Amino acid sequence: MKLLVVGGGGREHAIIRALKKNPQVETIYSLPGNGGIAQDAECVPIGATDIDKIVAFAVEKKVDYAVVAPDDPLVLGCVDALEAKGIPCFGPRANAAIIEGSKIFAKNLMKKYGIPTADYAVFEDMDQALAYLDTAPVPTVVKADGLALGKGVIIAQTREEAKTAVREMMEGGKFGASGSRVVIEEFLTGPEVSVLSFTDGKVVKPMVSSMDHKRAGDNDTGLNTGGMGTVAPNPYYTPEIADRCMKEIFLPTIAAMNAEGRTFRGCLYFGLMLTPKGPKVIEYNCRFGDPETQVVLPLLESDLLTIMRACTNGTLAETEVKFADKHACCVILASKGYPEHYQKGFPLTMTEEAAAHTYVAGAKLDGDTLVTSGGRVTGTTAVADSLEEAIREAYRISDGVHFENAYRRSDIGQRALQALK
Ligand code: AMP
Ligand code: GLY
Repeated sequence: MKLLVVGGGGREHAIIRALKKNPQVETIYSLPGNGGIAQDAECVPIGATDIDKIVAFAVEKKVDYAVVAPDDPLVLGCVDALEAKGIPCFGPRANAAIIEGSKIFAKNLMKKYGIPTADYAVFEDMDQALAYLDTAPVPTVVKADGLALGKGVIIAQTREEAKTAVREMMEGGKFGASGSRVVIEEFLTGPEVSVLSFTDGKVVKPMVSSMDHKRAGDNDTGLNTGGMGTVAPNPYYTPEIADRCMKEIFLPTIAAMNAEGRTFRGCLYFGLMLTPKGPKVIEYNCRFGDPETQVVLPLLESDLLTIMRACTNGTLAETEVKFADKHACCVILASKGYPEHYQKGFPLTMTEEAAAHTYVAGAKLDGDTLVTSGGRVTGTTAVADSLEEAIREAYRISDGVHFENAYRRSDIGQRALQALK
């Protein structure tokens, strides 16, 4: 089989490595991929949002199956466009990807179908938003409606801070059109859990739970990033909570999307907060998380391609989705200064052991040399029988990844470890 994977980060590298395990796979095209992915797939310089070119390429190469991994092509209708040419895909169509593409859509869906989430109000008019904030309880949370590279969420400790965020989004154009409408919502507390799930629109099969580390600095300090590391499973996500989430959140969400005529097929990511009043949805993503994928897929014992095709064909109920009873930890190495200003272009080298455990996110080939090209550069994953050992191994192996100005958090997994004790 010839496969095509749209996207070019650490998540896509992890997906490609998992797909390659299926002996039916002959070729994987990675669009655009990156210098590290080039070890595992045939990278083609077509951008992930260049839908016309992606479709033309897929048709020309007679691709048998496509996986659209990032949020923006999904929201832009990449799956619809490929399917229109007869190419089966993993990923939701645009009318379902809106569950991530518009926070207002997601909030209204949850309200309409009684799915637990933070209380909220939606504003299209800045003056009304500012007036509302005069009496809103603080801390409060201000979110841009559309996709904002994970940066469209401000937790405001004071009303002034919240107002500044609203002005920047609605007037300053900080997030472009994504910020022309905002959601202001109740501040929730409790441990966060990421649950990625497979769904064919009929059944939902959750993957092993995980914990992201979004802040740049140790002890969850500093700016929000795309994620500095992950562990799986998430110790806060007990079997009792998992049952409750299935009944109160996962199944109702699938049913709600069907009722709206927006059947979701693909990976639906539930960003949950385990509040004192029970699990609530913080966000939905219409795709695999990054770097959650880098700990979840290494624990998957069943065949990824078989599961993905079952999601497309509506046969997920009969398809095995089995995870190892082990632990995984992924440590991200970023360019110093990320997520703000950082330098790139430094040679990236890895020991053989490190290369086997590392997914490359931000590096390109300069001739034969791999050089850094992004904020997050690599993610090194270790799997072990205990969380403690997985953490120790992930750090030890990531010592074998070298580039100038490398930065990593030193406490990935520590909170999870405390929770286990
Ligand atoms: P998001 O981009 O929606 O994932 O939000 C980024 C982060 O902001 C989340 O991972 C949470 O840590 C935090 N967050 C978002 N919404 C809330 C909320 N209502 N209450 C508390 N924290 C929140
Ligand atoms: N790691 C969070 C996300 O992929 O959105």
